[in-house]
Amino acid sequence: MKKILVIHGPNLDQLGKREIDVYGKTTLDDINRALEKKAKELGVEVKTVQLSGEGEICKEIGAAKENGFSAIMINPGAYTHYSIAVRDAVAGTSLPTLEIHLSNIYAREEFRHKSVIAPVATGQISGFGLDSYLLGLAAAAKLV
Ligand code: DQA
Repeated sequence: MKKILVIHGPNLDQLGKREIDVYGKTTLDDINRALEKKAKELGVEVKTVQLSGEGEICKEIGAAKENGFSAIMINPGAYTHYSIAVRDAVAGTSLPTLEIHLSNIYAREEFRHKSVIAPVATGQISGFGLDSYLLGLAAAAKLV
């Protein structure tokens, strides 16, 4: 069975408590459970991990292929907007990589309008809350 790696970046462990007006009451556990359920329906395996550090995220992306993954989904959190390190890690992996955001980053503060990840990602899904992840998983399952 094809394996898809889901990386949740910094502060996403705080979902459900954090800026509820923006991100809602959905917790990271809710998202992970929904992904597991959807993965079963799609016939893929999903592994979810939350990493707050830029370096840890780069290492996880760099090792993904040798760890047996066929695609990556990543919500890089605030790193989206400035981390050249995460961008380079995504550019360096040969695996299809989907950029996921709960909120519509283009409808928020101007500093969120730029993603340094998007030009090297396979595609981006932004603005559908929990469904951003489920839509991403459906797209990733088609790619693998
Ligand atoms: C986010 C959007 C980012 O701008 C923000 O820093 C986050 C979450 C989202 O999922 O909407 O941490 O990636």
